[in-house]
Amino acid sequence: MQDPNHEDISEILYTADQIALRVDEMGQQITEDYYDRAFEEGIVMISILRGGAIFMADLARAVKLPVEMDYMAVSSYGSGAHTSGVVRILKDLSTTIEGRHVIIAEDIIDTGLTLKYLLKNLNSRKPASLSIATMLKKQVPNQAEVPCDYVGFECPNEFIVGYGLDYAERYRNLPYIGILKSEVYQ
Ligand code: IMP
Ligand code: MG
Repeated sequence: MQDPNHEDISEILYTADQIALRVDEMGQQITEDYYDRAFEEGIVMISILRGGAIFMADLARAVKLPVEMDYMAVSSYGSGAHTSGVVRILKDLSTTIEGRHVIIAEDIIDTGLTLKYLLKNLNSRKPASLSIATMLKKQVPNQAEVPCDYVGFECPNEFIVGYGLDYAERYRNLPYIGILKSEVYQ
């Protein structure tokens, strides 16, 4: 499927309706999984700015339990579309997560290096539990092992935009998830 209003997008992978349905399912799953423990220690959902913010806003509302929300911003050294694995924290959490149930809400796992670093960093703060919900998991060779508890969709190894994902800060507000034409970034 294509977007007649957007010539930069070669293919729509998931429509806004498909995303909404899937996020709802993920929220229901989280509600079931955390039902017994959410009331005592509380759930803190963390999104990694800026891509993860739209997904977290939707996912948090699909979870029928008390959820706090917090944000981190990181930058990975490296150029353009590629991650190097060296991560710098630009904005840290405002919440103390020790003893809390933490769910990271991430937009996409590509190399997995950013999350690998963040898992280590957040685990050192001794949360009661730490899990990952990602909207997309890219099917790429040699992806770092990151235990994803909730995955929206497994997507092809292409440059993806929309629903929070950008190229040079553009396309984040597209309501669907699509493939960016390679002419745009080459
Ligand atoms: P990593 O390679 O798994 O460390 O991915 C780090 C970050 O790069 C993701 O959280 C996204 O913000 C960004 N990223 C990776 N792949 C894409 C893509 O296809 N489109 C837009 N952003 C991406
Ligand atoms: Mg991200």
